[in-house]
Amino acid sequence: MRIRTKRFFFPFALAWVTLAWLGVATAAPADPAAELAEFQQYFKAKFPAVAFNDFADGLYALPGLEDARARWRAAGSAYTRQLQFGKKIWETPFINGKTFASCFKNKGVNIAQGYPYWDKVGKRVRTVEMDLIDCSKRNKGEHVFLTADLSHNADARLQLAQVTAYFYSLSLGKTLNPDVDLTDPDARKAYEEGKQYWWSRRGQWNFSCASCHADLAGKTLGNQPLSAGLGHGTGWPAQRLDTERLEPLHYRYMTCLAQMRAKPPAFGSTIYNHLELYEKLMSTGLPLRAPSMRN
Ligand code: HEC
Repeated sequence: MRIRTKRFFFPFALAWVTLAWLGVATAAPADPAAELAEFQQYFKAKFPAVAFNDFADGLYALPGLEDARARWRAAGSAYTRQLQFGKKIWETPFINGKTFASCFKNKGVNIAQGYPYWDKVGKRVRTVEMDLIDCSKRNKGEHVFLTADLSHNADARLQLAQVTAYFYSLSLGKTLNPDVDLTDPDARKAYEEGKQYWWSRRGQWNFSCASCHADLAGKTLGNQPLSAGLGHGTGWPAQRLDTERLEPLHYRYMTCLAQMRAKPPAFGSTIYNHLELYEKLMSTGLPLRAPSMRN
């Protein structure tokens, strides 16, 4: 397959040049708030017909991808069965009689919008999946996702995705707002690492996440329609239209890296947490629509 790319778009570098030219910020790099505004503005300008909240529907909200949208509409809520399995896992007591709800603030209701968050004590980014896994461990759970190799064991990943999907469904429609204080230098470092990863080229095609999800967003590459970076993460876990499997967000990252002909780090690697942090921060303000159906 031959790939045509336009000139690499790097808004943050442009922002730096512009600000420096204005004589504003010659001493400090752009701050995350400015980067957020610029990231969102790029997609709003690229797709002026798309209402802001609709970016949470991924590529199906973008003009020019009507065929994909029709297929998506036809699929409806095909993930419902998986969600029911997730509810069952969530509600089944551990041997000590407690359930997953006991591990979370507000019993896990209306809190998913704050994920991923910065754990000040552990000094790391924490995802919903991490909290669910730790909850099961602490309560001597026997879920297969505790011990399996999640990169390769699809059934274990499915079990994790099911309970994660149920967790997100308890916060459906809440406005995404990851709970991270970027004035904390360690949190800032995690953010910078996620950002760096998003914009760097890698793999045999020398693509970055931005090549497909900014430059080519709304277009089709081979036979694959491409989503905008704005909205990434709002619909996951998602059931894939092709494979009909419910998958966690980080497995989507692994699929993308494989499509870039880059070697994906293992499921559970810290870099995916940092990527999720960056992507969800850039989608701040959008409604959560997880679980969902996705390409
Ligand atoms: C070669 C093109 C390509 C590259 C490069 C690429 N992806 Fe993707 N990505 C896809 C395709 C195809 C899909 C499925 C259709 C869609 O939603 O865009 C997808 C979907 C996604 C989704 C789900 C979108 C949604 O609406 O829910 C996320 C999140 C994502 N990619 C993140 C990334 C990240 C992070 C990187 C960089 C590590 C990356 N992608 C690099 C092709 C790519």
